Amino acid sequence: MDAAAISNELTSVVLTEDQLQTRIREIAAEIDEDYADLDKPLLLVGVLKGAVMVMADLARAISIPVQIDFMAVSSYGSGTKSSGVVRIIKDLDIDLTGRNVLIVEDILDSGLTLSWLIKNLKSRGSSSIEVMTMMRKPDAIKVEVHARYCGFDIPNEFVVGFGLDYAEQYRNLREVAVLAPHVYGG
Ligand code: IMP
Ligand code: MG
Repeated sequence: MDAAAISNELTSVVLTEDQLQTRIREIAAEIDEDYADLDKPLLLVGVLKGAVMVMADLARAISIPVQIDFMAVSSYGSGTKSSGVVRIIKDLDIDLTGRNVLIVEDILDSGLTLSWLIKNLKSRGSSSIEVMTMMRKPDAIKVEVHARYCGFDIPNEFVVGFGLDYAEQYRNLREVAVLAPHVYGG
């Protein structure tokens, strides 16, 4: 799905498909260099469901050997705000002992989910844990999370597309865009 086809549901396009794909290729090249000498494949850990698109594109742009695994988590809290209290819905299949792990995320918003996840994964005996996030909202951050790789800093607005949803829709939008207020019932 592209933004032009649903322009009446969107206020503005924040990131074009071209910008997203160009940046992913740049980050993949950095990852190839930074992890060139591993004795086991780099383990990419995606957080369902938002990270699915980033994972698919990033993993294919990387040239070094990787393995891919996914986790599903849910944060307790009221409404759409993340509380930092996280429950694992689906855990990893792969053992992290001695592994170099790169968490692949769609967006770093408050940072609450990711800071919990990093702590959780660190307790499992991995050799290293780093974070790649496609987007970051610097004005929304509540807990400082270090992302070794960040695609774009974006304004503190609710966006959809490239994996990000509103009510489970718009994940297949190829761009990242701000939803028009009338879609929220506003
Ligand atoms: P937080 O960093 O704990 O606040 O939660 C981040 C998660 O909330 C992301 O992984 C997304 O799944 C979701 N999220 C944050 N901002 C947005 C947005 O603008 N649109 C859609 N989902 C979002
Ligand atoms: Mg996410």
